[in-house]
Amino acid sequence: MSQQPATTERSRIGILISGRGSNMVAIVEAIRDGRIPNAEVEVVISDQSAAAGLVKAKEHGIETLVIERRGRKREEHDREVVAALRARQVDLVCLAGYMRVLSSEFLNAFPRRILNIHPSLLPLFPGLEPQKQALDNGVTVSGCTVHFVDEKLDGGPIVAQCVVPIHDGDTVESLSARILAEEHQLYPEAVTKVLNNHKG
Ligand code: GRF
Repeated sequence: MSQQPATTERSRIGILISGRGSNMVAIVEAIRDGRIPNAEVEVVISDQSAAAGLVKAKEHGIETLVIERRGRKREEHDREVVAALRARQVDLVCLAGYMRVLSSEFLNAFPRRILNIHPSLLPLFPGLEPQKQALDNGVTVSGCTVHFVDEKLDGGPIVAQCVVPIHDGDTVESLSARILAEEHQLYPEAVTKVLNNHKG
């Protein structure tokens, strides 16, 4: 029997979303089926009360919080999010379709402990609508990237990437769907890699 020793510390993950939450679910399911070992999602936080991902997180039995911006300064909003993550002793933060740029205060609270997934082969096509940018530029491959978050938009050190072919006649929708399927594999792999590197 290869049981985990009772003393094995579980890594505590917090996931931030703004919408659909399919990458969040991919991480949760990867933990449940052992592809991400020794980890737990402690909380899913959304800045949007209507985010569909909140329902999915609850269905998986995960605590959810809505922390809206409510016209506050970025720093003030981030302070509340950071406090919620700290209160749950989160040691890795995963952005999964979280549509906000983080303040330096947030970044400093979790140095090299914040990941993001972006649907292009960074450093190509950062920012909004990367799938459209890829099609508009006529590239023949695109993909997805998991990277550490720093002060540069979609610019931190790269953890993992996956190449996705672009087919003749692709639309933003068809390309986005092909990339998303790979995102769901890549994000759990990247989380596992980062957690392993942080051990010992
Ligand atoms: C994904 O394409 C992700 O790469 C990007 O936003 C989208 C979020 O999708 N950052 P979901 O909310 O995880 O379904």
